[in-house]
Amino acid sequence: MTFNIALNFEDGVTRFIECNAGEKVLDAAYRQKVNLPMDCSDGVCGTCKCQCVSGEYDLGDDYLEEALSEEEADERRVLTCQMIPNSDCVIEVPVAAAQCKTALATTGADVVEVSLLSDTAIELVVQLDEPLAFLPGQYINIQVPGSTQVRAYSFSSLPGSREGRFLIRNVPGGVMSQWLTRQARAGDRLTLSGPMGSFYLRDGERPLLLLAGGTGLAPLLSMLQTLAGQESRRPITLLYGVTRDCDLVKTDALEAFTQRLPGYRWLPVVADAESACPQRGFVTEHLDEAMLNEGDVDIYLCGPPPMVNAVSAALRDRGITPGGFWYEKFIASQSAAA
Ligand code: FES
Repeated sequence: MTFNIALNFEDGVTRFIECNAGEKVLDAAYRQKVNLPMDCSDGVCGTCKCQCVSGEYDLGDDYLEEALSEEEADERRVLTCQMIPNSDCVIEVPVAAAQCKTALATTGADVVEVSLLSDTAIELVVQLDEPLAFLPGQYINIQVPGSTQVRAYSFSSLPGSREGRFLIRNVPGGVMSQWLTRQARAGDRLTLSGPMGSFYLRDGERPLLLLAGGTGLAPLLSMLQTLAGQESRRPITLLYGVTRDCDLVKTDALEAFTQRLPGYRWLPVVADAESACPQRGFVTEHLDEAMLNEGDVDIYLCGPPPMVNAVSAALRDRGITPGGFWYEKFIASQSAAA
């Protein structure tokens, strides 16, 4: 039996390694040429201390309190030289990938389909050369064919599949948007590097509040598919904010999750005052008490910076400190996830 261990480095790079049953994470990492920080390798120095954000593991009791205190162990801090996983795990490593002699993985893919879902959203479907592990919510860099530029896009599809899907904002004059809408053909080759990012679904029991702005829906679609695959019973509310009615895309997919996730509902929110949508205005105007659950909620937000700032301010004004709050800001034409 092996477990998949995601090592999430300080610079956002993620490397997946396999850990055999009974094997320590540090040993598994070095076996796969990832030089995690270490000194003694014996539970004495504390140099290998990391944070395990999901998964089950044993630390044993063969390490010194100076290396890892009881309090730190209770907070799921781990010594990788002692940690033996009992399930797949996600570990945050407090150094950059290059310091561990690893880097972004590069892979190739063929374009399968490009669809203009609206004036503002493009769906790109690719066939990856090999199945790609990533954490639901993460993004990957795609090189714009015929140029040296790269753009970062969140997967809207499930991790571990050969099919990769992306929901891409159609940016007027944007190099990737122009390539996709004018030139891309089925079979065109793409080079991708990643996965990356700290915006990914964490394990937990708290109700979920998912907030999407425009094509910020992409990583949340990946999370919803993952939750559906886990047969999650967590209460989930998705607020999907757009500017105009015609910007709402993937609504059939969003509705279909009501059949697979018993605690799920979704609400569109349209900024246009002329919209026929029952929820008009901004997402922040539709955050009700039930969704915020007095702070006992995990919030995942992906949207443009003003939306992220507005939601943060709204939570602050209402005195809500969520149990978990993760966000991804996307910025057109820059190397941030979109
Ligand atoms: Fe020293 Fe793990 S390497 S405690």
